[in-house]
Amino acid sequence: MANTNRLSSTSVMMAVAMMVVTAAAWGDTGELSTEYYYMQGCPMAEMIVRDVMGDAIMKDPTLAASILRLHFHDCFVQGCDASLLLDSTPGHKAEKDAPPNRTLRGFKVIDAIKEALEEQCPSMVSCADILALAARDAVVMAGGPYYDVPTGRKDGFRSDAADTAALPAATLNASALIDVFVKQRDFSVGEMVALSGGHTLGVAHCANFKNRLSNFDSANQVDPSLEPSLAASLSRTCGRGGDGATAPLDMTSEAFDTAYFSGLQVNRGLLTSDQTLADSPETAMFVNMFAEDPDMFFYTFQQGMLKMGQLDLKEQGDVRKSCRVLN
Ligand code: HEM
Repeated sequence: MANTNRLSSTSVMMAVAMMVVTAAAWGDTGELSTEYYYMQGCPMAEMIVRDVMGDAIMKDPTLAASILRLHFHDCFVQGCDASLLLDSTPGHKAEKDAPPNRTLRGFKVIDAIKEALEEQCPSMVSCADILALAARDAVVMAGGPYYDVPTGRKDGFRSDAADTAALPAATLNASALIDVFVKQRDFSVGEMVALSGGHTLGVAHCANFKNRLSNFDSANQVDPSLEPSLAASLSRTCGRGGDGATAPLDMTSEAFDTAYFSGLQVNRGLLTSDQTLADSPETAMFVNMFAEDPDMFFYTFQQGMLKMGQLDLKEQGDVRKSCRVLN
């Protein structure tokens, strides 16, 4: 899939020129830096990621959602250290095989990016950085905001299925989400709502929202906060396809836009954890603001992504040669 030879000579010249300009401005700015790979002697790193991502998303636009979700699921479990990408080994179940991760997709795209990078810059670009850069590219390619991603993350050594208990469940209400995002990880409430806006892309399986369709209460009613015609259509989808059937998380599931928030305003959120944001006083004002103001959504989302991309970074770590196995 990866064909780095296609990078044009103009791209190469631009990268080298940028290296010269940014090297002069570069200083010791802490653990991560937007010039990290220029300084390491791999100025093409970000372009190689973008190139492979472009190919993948051209073939299958739904992968943008899946790649964005990979970065979230990596960072919330043991920090952004590519622990999510390690394969299980005999007798040891890794994160990716735990129940909340079984519907993740896009691992092969990450493999293709890693292979292309290993050709050009062996043992230099961490898998954790690949996830952060690929997630940003996914957002941009779906029509969302561009933001600079500081790099220099290290890959971790541990991946244990049990650690995925740290991921928020789809049944959480706003105050439980605030515990997970704000109290435990120091996001602002606005950033939490904007990050939930990642659900402007992609789909969910019936297993994750069927709790709202029937047996919602003792009278077997549908969740009253689910708009009735959507409830009826979802019931048909899940009735026919069972837990493995899917429904879009918003009306425009391949476009990074504000439709997720305008959907919440009219009770068309798919997951309990989505709709609760419009129904709870702590979060509703952000839903309304982002529905009306795409710039504010984009800005707050990128602030949230930058913070998420720096959760619990490893000081001691590695750069894996293959993202699936330890060196
Ligand atoms: C607020 C807490 C969150 C919960 C409870 C949650 C839960 C879920 C669930 C249950 C799914 C559907 C999985 C399936 O059925 O296959 C999903 C999909 C998705 N999530 Fe989240 N999520 C949350 C936050 C986030 C964040 C912060 C992001 C990224 C910024 C994100 C990005 C995505 C994307 C893009 C998909 C669609 C994936 C695809 O179509 O392949 N989610 N999420």
